[in-house]
Parts: sequence; structure tokens; C-alpha cells
Amino acid sequence: MHSVSHSRQSIHQLSTQLANQIAAGEVVERPASVIKELLENSLDAGATQIDIDIQAGGTQLIRIRDNGFGIPQDELALALSPHATSKIRSLDDLIHIESMGFRGEALASIASVSELILTSHYQDMAWSIKYKEGEFDLTPASHPQGTTVEVNNLFHNTPARRKFLKADRTEYRHVEDVVKRIALARFDVAFNFKHNQRQVFSLPVATSDENKLQRLTRLINKEFIQAAVHLNFENAGLKLSGWLATGEYSRSQSDMQYFFVNGRMIRDKVITHAVRQAFQETLFPGRFPVYVLHLEMDAEQVDVNVHPTKHEVRFRQGRLIHDFLFYSLREALAQEVGDKSGDSFKVAGKGFNAHTYSTSFNSSGFPSQHTHVSEASAAYSSLPYQNLTNNEDISKPLGLAIAKLKNDYLLAENKDGLLVLQLKQAREILVQQQIENSLATQSKLISKPVLIPFNVSIDTNAQSWLNKHETDFQQLGFEFAVLGENEIMVRQVPAMLNATDIKHSVNEYVSYIINNDSDLLPALINMIVNDDFSNSPTDWNTLLRDLEECGLDKFENCYHQISDKDLSSFFKK
Ligand SMILES: Nc1ncnc2c1ncn2[C@@H]1O[C@H](COP(=O)(O)OP(=O)(O)OP(=O)(O)O)[C@@H](O)[C@H]1O
Ligand SMILES: [Mg+2]
Repeated sequence: MHSVSHSRQSIHQLSTQLANQIAAGEVVERPASVIKELLENSLDAGATQIDIDIQAGGTQLIRIRDNGFGIPQDELALALSPHATSKIRSLDDLIHIESMGFRGEALASIASVSELILTSHYQDMAWSIKYKEGEFDLTPASHPQGTTVEVNNLFHNTPARRKFLKADRTEYRHVEDVVKRIALARFDVAFNFKHNQRQVFSLPVATSDENKLQRLTRLINKEFIQAAVHLNFENAGLKLSGWLATGEYSRSQSDMQYFFVNGRMIRDKVITHAVRQAFQETLFPGRFPVYVLHLEMDAEQVDVNVHPTKHEVRFRQGRLIHDFLFYSLREALAQEVGDKSGDSFKVAGKGFNAHTYSTSFNSSGFPSQHTHVSEASAAYSSLPYQNLTNNEDISKPLGLAIAKLKNDYLLAENKDGLLVLQLKQAREILVQQQIENSLATQSKLISKPVLIPFNVSIDTNAQSWLNKHETDFQQLGFEFAVLGENEIMVRQVPAMLNATDIKHSVNEYVSYIINNDSDLLPALINMIVNDDFSNSPTDWNTLLRDLEECGLDKFENCYHQISDKDLSSFFKK
């Protein structure tokens, strides 16, 4: 057994070199992690061209050259020092980090476990700094605009770490993976990648759709592109874009899932869950979707200072992100399935058929928290977001809703026992009452934005139909926009519309109005009352609270109380 000496030794400060080597343990695990750090530095320096050269899987040599803004001579030594960064100045800056780096640790760590040469051109001068065993050596150099970092003999001075390296082949595969990910994150940057002097790939800047698809084909594969939907959704300060393979192409493992948040590749439970849910109906169990997705949001909405390698982040509004992703992806998938029966839009020429779906609009904001998320929230039941219901509701007269039964009843628990509510009857009375109140007090119904605006096809001229009804629709809480000759976009719906499938309901409603030329209001009440009521416990409880507020005497015939005594009498021997 390993024996530990218990005799005391004096406390002493570690040498900078040793402290850096220990810190390096966090970020510099293998050649691939060095390359990730160096590439991120180049991107932070605004590079548009990055050349990556490695030897022996990166264990002998890693050389990254960029055309970024460079480092002045008098800051070169600082760049290699621990806790030195140009990217943040104060704690406040940590709240909205827009650069990939911010810890000021990477170069110091890498330098402490390798022989590192940093060469940079800044304002017509180029200098090189060599770092070995704690010594700096600064010499004039010749270098075009930008910076080159050369890392030789990684872990030469830390044999324990070196031993953990795998065969060059394996290390190479990890490096390739990192380079691929970063190339998928930044289509606006050209990448040149060589291993043992042989070119692996050379990717030009990809601005056109065609160039992007070429890069995707090179980095993923052709099958992906053939089954891919291109999507582009924007709402409430969140922007989701990228490509998603439909059910036609999937994998037996989750190895082709690329998700970037503000350009950073991350792994995150909220995201994985939302994607899985969106695919639930189109993928067989055990199959994994393939995607390259970019989510962009205000830097303040995401905390990147969670883990040294920055692979994990924390969202300030996880629920919102989850819902936005889920609805966007599901929408893209649903449209794709719908498209199979009609015309599909092909990206110009080249035989690629990545279909594009996009919505871009400025809605007045998301529904507040989860209360008015428009569709099935039952999908989230396995998420650890169990603040859906408020336990204090149990002490209210109609209690806490716990289930929807046979689509027609709500089962609730209150202080006296159980309560069964007949949904249709109760909602009919309530909706009538709410509409009367709203129209009397503010002459319009309360409206809510739909999470993802959707399109409705109509068999009449959209513009003249809308012109005719616009003010009436607004009064009822709808907001429509003309999309095409026979198509409208739905942005807002009446807040009291709580169906499981709002899109379907609005479709039915609109076509009913067109075909029957009936009054808008009675048809709306009819639609609301006859819809499959929401699957969301939040909506159930909102309904109960609304009934109480409206006056329980109006609903006497709509619910039945089963007291605790009644309950136990069912089971008397
Ligand atoms: N390729 C580069 N071009 C221009 N400046 C660079 C480059 N690489 C590093 N630097 C400068 O050197 C500093 C230190 O880099 P380093 O990677 O150690 O820290 P960081 O990027 O600030 O933070 P992190 O440790 O999170 O990566 C950077 O803040 C930047 O100013
Ligand atoms: Mg860095």
C-alpha cells in the first residue's frame, strides 16, 4: 500500500512554472485542447484566415498561423504570463463575454508544458518570443500581418502527462474533431489544415449558401446535406439558424450533433432535451438526429464562466431557450414533412435539397414565462422544471389541478378532497364572461404572441380578406399579416386560446370564417370551447383560478366535489 509521510514540511510558494503546469491540467489535456485554445485566440484576434499545421497528431508540433490583429512587442511576454488577458478588465466584464477567451490562462499553461514560440506582426514590426523553462527570449522576426504560435514537444517536461497521450493516430482524430467543430462554427473564416505535411482540408470563407453547403459536405457528409432542412428562426432576442437532418438521415450514436451558442461549441442538457423532444415523433428510439445549429443571443443571457474548458454554459433563462428551440425545430420538421406532398424549394442548382425555413419578425416579446406557451407543454414532463404548479393552490376553493381526464374533465385536489370539473361547460361560461368583460372595459380581447409565428393558407385573396376583417380580428386579439396571395402569417392570438394545437385551431377557425361568412365572435367562442384543452398543468390551474375569480356560483353545475369521506366510503368493507 501507498504510505503517506506525516512529518510536517514548511509552506512555500510554488514556482510560477510549477503553478502554471498545475493550472495546465485543467485546459491542456492533449494536443486537441491546445489547438482549441490557439484557434480561439486567433478568432478573438479577428482572423479571417487560419492555417493549422501539425506533426505526429500534434504531439511533436502544432503551428497555428492567423491574419488577426497581432500582439505588440511589449505585450508578448505578458501574453505568455498567467492571469494576463486583453479580453476582460473587471468583474463586470464577466457578465457579458463576447470573446472566446477571458481567463488569460491558455498560453501560459501551454507554454509551461511545451517549447513555445510566439511570433507576431503588429504595426509594421514583427517579433518572436521563445519560452523555455521559465526563460523568455525576444528576437526580431519576419512575419506577415497576424500571429503564429508554434508548440513543440508537448508535455516534454511532464512525463506523467505525456504517458497519458494515446497513439498519434488517436490524438490526430481528436485534433481533427476540434478543427472540424471550429470550422463549422465559423463559416466566415478560411481554414487550412495539414497533418504531417499533407493537406487534410482547405476551406475557403463560405458566405454564399452554396459555399456553406460545400463546407458542410466536406466536414460532415453528403447524406446529411441531402436530408437537411435549413432553418432560420428569430424571436425575443434569440436567433436559431443552421441545418437539421430530417428523419431520413439519422445515426446510431450522437456523434454528429454540433450545437453552438454565440459561436462556442457547447454541451448542454437543456439543449439536448429540447432537440430530443422535437424529434420524438419523427425518429425511432435509439436513433440520433444530425444537426449543425447556431444559437445566438445577447452575451448577458449566457454565463460562459462555468467550466475551465468553456464547454458548458449556464443560461439565465433556460426555460425560454428550451421552448424556443423545441418549437423552432418542431416547426422546421413539421414543415418539411408537409412539404413532401407539395412543391419543395431547392437551393439553386447543384442538386442539394436543403430546404429553407425561416421567420424573422419583431414580436412584442415572448409570452411571459411559461404561462402562455401556446402548445403542448406536456412534452416537458421529464424536465426538472417542476415549478409548473403552485402548491398553495391546494387551499383555493377549486384546488390544485392534477390531471386531465378523457379530454373532457379536470381532476383537482382541494382541502375537502377531490374535485372533478367538466371542462366544456365551465369554459363556455367562462369564455363568454371574459369576452363580455374585456369588450366592456377595454373594447378588445387580451392577445398573446405565438411562440413561433406560423402560416395559414386560405382559399381567398388574403389582402382583401384581411382588409375586410382587420379591425374585427384585432379586437379579438388576432394579429395577422399578409404573406402571399393566399397566405397569411399568424403572430398573435387571443390569450384565452389554450388549445393543445393552436396552429390547427387557427387554421380551422380561419377556414370556417371564410367558408361560412359567419360572425367572428360566436365562431371564436365555439372554437375555444370545443378545442382539446391544453395539456399544461399551468394552463389547467390558470383556468381554475379564472373560474374562482369569475364567481363560483356561475359554475355550480360544472363541477362535482368528492369529499375525503366519500372517498373512504368507496372502500368500506
Ligand atoms: N493569435 C493571437 N492574436 C492576437 N492576440 C493574441 C493571440 N493569442 C493570444 N493573444 C493575446 O494574448 C492574451 C493571452 O492569451 P490566452 O489565450 O492565454 O488568454 P485569453 O485568450 O485572454 O483567455 P483564455 O485563457 O480564456 O484563453 C490574449 O488575451 C490576447 O491578448
Ligand atoms: Mg485564449
